[in-house]
Amino acid sequence: MTKTVITYGTFDMFHVGHVRLLKRLRALGDRLLVGCSTDEFNALKGKRGVIPYEQRVEMLLACRYVDDVFPEHDWGQKRDDILHKKADIFAMGDDWAGKFDDLGDITQVIYLPRTPSISSTELRRVSAALREEQLSELRNVLDHLNRVVKSL
Ligand code: CTP
Repeated sequence: MTKTVITYGTFDMFHVGHVRLLKRLRALGDRLLVGCSTDEFNALKGKRGVIPYEQRVEMLLACRYVDDVFPEHDWGQKRDDILHKKADIFAMGDDWAGKFDDLGDITQVIYLPRTPSISSTELRRVSAALREEQLSELRNVLDHLNRVVKSL
């Protein structure tokens, strides 16, 4: 019988922590379904991603460990999804440890260790810092040009 694994997340700026989690999740069964948070749901959560929902789905579907992706619109849909999609295992990274134990009456709930030292938040921070560095360099060039023009 096919063993179905289900997971949820935003998967913004798809990175190796995501890949390693999806690989381990897929190895738990025969089919991996991913609920990808929509941009509207992220806004509700107070999370502002960089990559739009459609592109995050496209990248997830391109990952060999993912069999299907569906939208996650709200916190409350997991129980219905698990029942309708006949998920044998509900699994997340361990930053969520204990948060979904209540689903244990309808499925097996598992939390896997996160990959250390990488997250979408960190990638967004690095990318913002790089942008700030470029802006600062541009300001210096403009200041210099301004001084040259004034000295003429
Ligand atoms: N995840 C992981 N290892 C990481 C980062 C994420 O195993 N280094 C897992 C999370 O535990 C979650 C899934 O990947 O089960 C999707 O997480 P998501 O929140 O989209 O990724 P983060 O990088 O944690 O994003 P953010 O920094 O925005 O919270």
